[in-house]
Amino acid sequence: MLELLQPTAGDPLIALMGAFRADTRADKIDVGVGVYRDEHGKTPVMAAVKQAEKHLFDEQDTKAYVGLAGDLKFNAAIVEQVFGDKAAQIQDRVRAVQTTGGCGALRSLLDLVAQSKPDATVWVSDPTWLNHIPLVRSARLKLETYPYFDREKQGVRFEEMIACLSKLGPNDVVLLHGACHNPTGADLSEEQWQQIAQLAAKQGFLPFIDLAYQGLGRGLDADAYGVRCVAEQVPELLVAISCSKNLGLYRERVGCAIIVHQQPATAQRAIENLLVLVRGNYSMPPDHGANVAVRVLSDPTLRKMWLDELEVMRNRINDLRRAVSTSFRERLGNDRFDYIQHQYGMFSLLGLKAEQVQILREQYGIYMPGDSRTNVAGLQHSQIARFVEAVATVSK
Ligand SMILES: Cc1ncc(COP(=O)(O)O)c(C=O)c1O
Repeated sequence: MLELLQPTAGDPLIALMGAFRADTRADKIDVGVGVYRDEHGKTPVMAAVKQAEKHLFDEQDTKAYVGLAGDLKFNAAIVEQVFGDKAAQIQDRVRAVQTTGGCGALRSLLDLVAQSKPDATVWVSDPTWLNHIPLVRSARLKLETYPYFDREKQGVRFEEMIACLSKLGPNDVVLLHGACHNPTGADLSEEQWQQIAQLAAKQGFLPFIDLAYQGLGRGLDADAYGVRCVAEQVPELLVAISCSKNLGLYRERVGCAIIVHQQPATAQRAIENLLVLVRGNYSMPPDHGANVAVRVLSDPTLRKMWLDELEVMRNRINDLRRAVSTSFRERLGNDRFDYIQHQYGMFSLLGLKAEQVQILREQYGIYMPGDSRTNVAGLQHSQIARFVEAVATVSK
């Protein structure tokens, strides 16, 4: 049977990681992979996480299964973090399930959509995070794109986006990036979120918000503005949460699938359906990462430590953004790359052609995917001058 399988194209980002590892140049620079790095180029375990792991090691006395929905305390802590002071208000209407990372949340919720409406269409931003596409396809749902990013103006094509979404209805799901849009770094303003929420309520499409970078853009609450605003105005909403970046738990696979519905009974039925899908898939989520996360989120000392560390990460990203923009301005004598300092999260698109990206890799040892998505958080301050010089030279 297996010889019937066709060769696969492979995942370009995973291939890029392999090529970077194999490169022996000492001054190589990786701005391709989507992980946060500190000034030493490391992705360290956060100190609050290390502490929580020590507590877990000392206190855990069983490895028995946790349950289909994972750690219920974790789910409650995530709902609290995502909805903030509105959490109590919508408590009856919200259900949450611990998942295997943000991808696990995205995939489980897409499976739920497919279960409910197999002919639904999922609309993703143009462009979007590359893995959204296989996630939607794996759930056997139709995929379309809505206009999002203006590559000339380096901003959101909001009027065109709204014009497109205005034609959608109850058969459509609109996947939105809650904050720190990947790959563009261009986020929606508060007014724009309001308009989208109103449109969703009017047209009846289902908003589905992917919040993978809460706390890494403007702050924990500010980055959740979109979710909170939409949740207040629409009858139903899906949210996929990732703890990979803001708790640095990447490989532990910690995330959360959240369902909001105006009818508590429907929210409950939806989550029960989701749990059946989970049972038929990986059965139960792993415990370690979520157990650590809930300790960090709910112990006042660990929480304070984590919030401080998160602030350092956020400030570093925003400092790097300013430093890269300034360096380009000085090198080029124009404002072509000024947008980098006005965007949020780890990524920005440099607007390079695939051939230019290839020259960067081959001649300068600078690694980024073919669309020139740059992980600003992958740079060290000491590398900025060389990075800017190389990009300026290849894009002349
Ligand atoms: C936009 C977006 N959504 C979701 C994720 C989920 O990541 P994970 O499954 O590693 O938690 C990522 C990670 O890169 C992302 O960039």
